[in-house]
Amino acid sequence: MNQDEKKRLAAEAALPYIEDGMALGVGTGSTVDFFIAALAEHAPRLRAVASSSNASTEKLQALRIEVSDLNSTGDLDLYVDGADEATRHLHLIKGGGGALTREKVLAGAARRFICIVDESKLVGVLGEFPLPIEVIPLARSYVARQIVKAGGQPIWREGVVTDNGNHIIDVHNLTIVDPPQLEATLNQIPGIVTVGLFAQRGADVLLVSGDDGLTVIG
Ligand code: A5P
Repeated sequence: MNQDEKKRLAAEAALPYIEDGMALGVGTGSTVDFFIAALAEHAPRLRAVASSSNASTEKLQALRIEVSDLNSTGDLDLYVDGADEATRHLHLIKGGGGALTREKVLAGAARRFICIVDESKLVGVLGEFPLPIEVIPLARSYVARQIVKAGGQPIWREGVVTDNGNHIIDVHNLTIVDPPQLEATLNQIPGIVTVGLFAQRGADVLLVSGDDGLTVIG
């Protein structure tokens, strides 16, 4: 199985979690794109669909799936999204695609978060994938200095502006032994909008695809 086939396997495994009348949140990324592609036939059963990025909104609308503002949907019943790294404890690094803030809001608003990944994303300890952090532009250098003091190596994702008009710093050289604690610590730094650690609100279920098929964790 090649990587796209694995992504499709994980994405389509999330479809049975959809129930009639649900408000569904849709994440961002190449794995979620397979989920979106399969969603058109299920969309009429849904009460509402909310999107985590302009990119996903465009893909949903291209399939004539109406996208609702989260302010009008109320809480979501289900959120489906990928990840850049995931552990068996259901902690995640997200934001490789720069959509971490809206993703974190939708995950927070969701009763259930199904995370879809291929086996290459499953790790013992988070941090080999650089941790994305969204910052307001004014705070970029200040936040970077704070991160250096905390032992990380911040690299500005130059030229990238998020859907919210902000910048992204990718933090290298982290070995994240206590993800909820690091998330809480970084959240205290002024100027940080969102840390791409999803630990305090991790996934509820991890669907991991590999050469041997699908593994359900959680
Ligand atoms: C987007 O900002 C990210 O959080 C994605 O969920 C993550 O990068 C996974 O993307 P892929 O499915 O393309 O690997």
